[in-house]
Amino acid sequence: MINMANRIHNKISVALVGYGYIAKYWEKAILDDGRMNIYGIYDKGIAESNLPDHKVYKSLASLCEDNQINTCIICTPTEDHYTTAMELLSSGKNIVMEKPSVLNMTEYNDLIRKAEENQALIYNAFHFVYSPEIAWFRSSLSGLYERFGKIGSFYSYFSDPYYIGGKLKSNALSLLGSWVDSGSNILSMLYSIFSHIWMDSLTFGDSYAGQFSDLFSTASLKFEDSHNNTGFGNTVTNWVSNSSMKYTEFLFPDTNSQIRLNHSQLAVTLTEGSSNEILFSSTVENRLLAHYTGLVDDVYKSLSSGTGNKEYGKLVYDTMYGTVKEGGKNA
Ligand SMILES: NC(=O)c1ccc[n+]([C@@H]2O[C@H](COP(=O)([O-])OP(=O)(O)OC[C@H]3O[C@@H](n4cnc5c(N)ncnc54)[C@H](O)[C@@H]3O)[C@@H](O)[C@H]2O)c1
Repeated sequence: MINMANRIHNKISVALVGYGYIAKYWEKAILDDGRMNIYGIYDKGIAESNLPDHKVYKSLASLCEDNQINTCIICTPTEDHYTTAMELLSSGKNIVMEKPSVLNMTEYNDLIRKAEENQALIYNAFHFVYSPEIAWFRSSLSGLYERFGKIGSFYSYFSDPYYIGGKLKSNALSLLGSWVDSGSNILSMLYSIFSHIWMDSLTFGDSYAGQFSDLFSTASLKFEDSHNNTGFGNTVTNWVSNSSMKYTEFLFPDTNSQIRLNHSQLAVTLTEGSSNEILFSSTVENRLLAHYTGLVDDVYKSLSSGTGNKEYGKLVYDTMYGTVKEGGKNA
């Protein structure tokens, strides 16, 4: 998929579409990694401006026409992902999409069709799976199974302080609800650990302005691991807690042990009876940058091998939206 014309000094050339908060993490991680080149940027808020060191496109159409680029990283607000992705795929560009890629499965299936028609790749960017404590857990899993037995159940709790004093913070409006914002983080993490996940039920709590959104949500899930063991789990996403805290606990019933991945502190703790042990603690200073460092490595490998990850995306979004009715604006 990547040909030499789209490489500068043998680097893969990409464009960033949307140059806000998270695009800066992409930029830093790509620069640090060194195997890709940010050839240009399109952001509708800065289309008429100049940026030092960057080619700035005046419109998405002009980016689509530029043959120097064959891959675009979509970092626009969530509500815009589908429209921008369709236009880019129609022009034959590969797309790397910020999470959540889509708002329902109709959109996802449309994107897959459009990509196939135009022989373009889709890569769903699940940054969360590269969090150091999750990466450690994944790579330690066979030893943990040996030591503690199978996983019987899990509990994921993801809270962000977006609803304070009876008001939703303005920067959370574009996130479209707690499940749309965090569901793909939780499910991409779980799919990096388990081979299959089913949703039993998904319940949304509260809404604001009568549209989109849950201020919290609870999901009840079942899973199968690589040894065909099955178990169950629950997730909570919560914007009303006044705190930023994220963790996932796994229970190992054979040994009555519990392992907690603390996603906020990037640490892993084991509890056996009344004793606690720290199994892993990361020294990285910037949590999000650590996520994007791992992500950029995977994006490079995926683009270089001409694969993308549409199947991984289908698993995550099918589970995320499988029990949600389409039609209205509700997530
Ligand atoms: N902020 C985070 O911590 C974070 C983490 C992971 C993923 N994400 C995801 O990244 C996406 C962007 O989030 P953000 O926090 O960077 O938002 P942001 O508002 O900081 O940046 C979005 C940028 O896109 C531009 N934009 C808006 N519509 C556009 C369009 N149609 N075409 C081109 N540019 C357009 C805006 O001008 C803005 O600069 C969201 O989908 C979000 O879920 C955000």
